[in-house]
Amino acid sequence: MEKNSKIFIAGHRGMVGSAILRELEKQGYSNIVTKTHKELDLLNQQAVSDFFSKEKPEFVFLAAAKVGGIEANRSQLGAFTYENLQIQNNVIHSSYLNGVKRLIFLGSSCIYPRLAPQPIKEEHLLTGLLEPTNYGYAIAKIAGVKMCEAYRTQYGCDFVPLMPTNLYGINDNFDLKGSHVLPALMRKFHEAKISGQKFVEVWGSGTPKRELLYVDDLAEACVFVMNNKEVTGLTNIGTGEDATIKELAEMVKKAVGFSGEIKFDPTKPDGAPRKCLDVSKINSLGWKATTSLEVGLKKVYEWVLQNKNEVGCHAELAVTLSSISC
Ligand SMILES: NC(=O)c1ccc[n+]([C@@H]2O[C@H](COP(=O)([O-])OP(=O)(O)OC[C@H]3O[C@@H](n4cnc5c(N)ncnc54)[C@H](OP(=O)(O)O)[C@@H]3O)[C@@H](O)[C@H]2O)c1
Repeated sequence: MEKNSKIFIAGHRGMVGSAILRELEKQGYSNIVTKTHKELDLLNQQAVSDFFSKEKPEFVFLAAAKVGGIEANRSQLGAFTYENLQIQNNVIHSSYLNGVKRLIFLGSSCIYPRLAPQPIKEEHLLTGLLEPTNYGYAIAKIAGVKMCEAYRTQYGCDFVPLMPTNLYGINDNFDLKGSHVLPALMRKFHEAKISGQKFVEVWGSGTPKRELLYVDDLAEACVFVMNNKEVTGLTNIGTGEDATIKELAEMVKKAVGFSGEIKFDPTKPDGAPRKCLDVSKINSLGWKATTSLEVGLKKVYEWVLQNKNEVGCHAELAVTLSSISC
């Protein structure tokens, strides 16, 4: 990308899209096109086609999607399947028709089989059964990966699917019904702190392990990949390191400054015992995550405190938390 190349970020108000926007601006890119959901509904094929014909972006970051935690995925299986397929079909196909030079498609580690060997390598895709609770989302994302590969094969399109691990960061979703493990933990500890609770209950045994990547590190990786022609094909993006839910809970407790206890409820489901990506491919191409969990959590909590009305942390303490994250 040149500093004045025309770049479209689909989903620039989301956690990932907003981080990509910050990163591009930080690096001096000046010709960035964005549209809110209201201005451009990416489910609308005609509207997306008209937008691409008019704007002719040269580079596309596809960070728009229907995203959520286990409960949202489970209760809206059809919507997760349809909306993700539709958004990516529209954006990828219009990018092909309008000669986009390079596109990054963001998937997620849920595309890998539920019992994939750990750490999960790119080649483990489609080698086993998926986690049943979010298969709609996973199937849509797998279709997106395969569509990028097929368009490269048939039309020579330079479209690259990146698979980030679990993410956290500013602009995350802190709604307990729709959120992932880390914002859910942060919200619980924050609310317990302000309401003077003696303990916080966390579902499961605390022993499953999860990998977490700070979203600004992912944004840096996305810009790195966009500028590095050596990166082609499915590529995992993560830290390559994981921690137990117990360790994560302790770290969030510390970042929030909650002084009570953590109680685990082992009668509740644990989810997969481990989910960690093998990131040797992206590391060998020259990119490595740099933000430690301690630093990332501190930054996110500072942001939560500054934006607590928007993230809804003033609400009453909600009671459930799934340690299973998509
Ligand atoms: N969060 C994670 O832990 C994680 C992990 C791995 C991969 N990813 C991937 O990263 C990407 C972005 O995730 P995220 O966490 O940034 O999600 P997010 O915060 O929910 O952002 C998604 C964005 O997409 C927009 N969007 C959704 N439907 C749209 C539509 N029909 N038309 C236009 N815009 C639409 C949303 O706008 P509105 O809010 O206005 O609807 C929002 O700005 C996804 O592909 C996801 O699979 C996320």
